[in-house]
Amino acid sequence: MISDKSTVLGWTGGIKAYGGNVWELPPLVVHQDHRRKGIGRALVADLEALIRERGGLALWLSTDDEDRMTSLGGKGLFQDTLKHLAEIRNLRNHPYEFYQKVGFTIVGVVPGSRPGQARHPDGQADKQTRQEPSARL
Ligand SMILES: CC(C)(COP(=O)(O)OP(=O)(O)OC[C@H]1O[C@@H](n2cnc3c(N)ncnc32)[C@H](O)[C@@H]1OP(=O)(O)O)[C@@H](O)C(=O)NCCC(=O)NCCS
Repeated sequence: MISDKSTVLGWTGGIKAYGGNVWELPPLVVHQDHRRKGIGRALVADLEALIRERGGLALWLSTDDEDRMTSLGGKGLFQDTLKHLAEIRNLRNHPYEFYQKVGFTIVGVVPGSRPGQARHPDGQADKQTRQEPSARL
């Protein structure tokens, strides 16, 4: 959490998985009046440092596109899944690009991740927290 005493400026956390080798970044949020000032980047950097101290090798997260903010919204993703993913475009400031800027790589998309709503893909990204070989799926 980052706070300026009276206002919480942003918040995130980590959930341990795979015996502590891999951690999940659950929702990350920055106060809407304080975005694009480097707070999100600082929160991810702090989280990475904490995870590294605990022996973690990788950090992953998933992010939805419920409002067609990316080129994947509205697409049937069961066919040519990885082609669509390789050609992803950010149409309206979807946060996936923030995650890329702070070092994450998109490693997958889950077609039909909301039953009956294939237009809501669930994107996944991960980031190595140490300069050591680690398996990617
Ligand atoms: C996504 C979010 C956490 C980013 O936090 P932030 O403090 O504004 O991000 P930063 O200022 O640290 O930005 C780091 C870089 O990412 C870029 N960036 C930030 N948000 C972006 C977006 N939505 N789309 C594209 N790029 C973005 C910044 O311009 C900056 O780029 P630069 O290094 O080239 O200058 C914040 O916008 C937020 O809380 N959004 C609402 C909640 C949300 O979507 N959370 C993620 C759910 S999975």
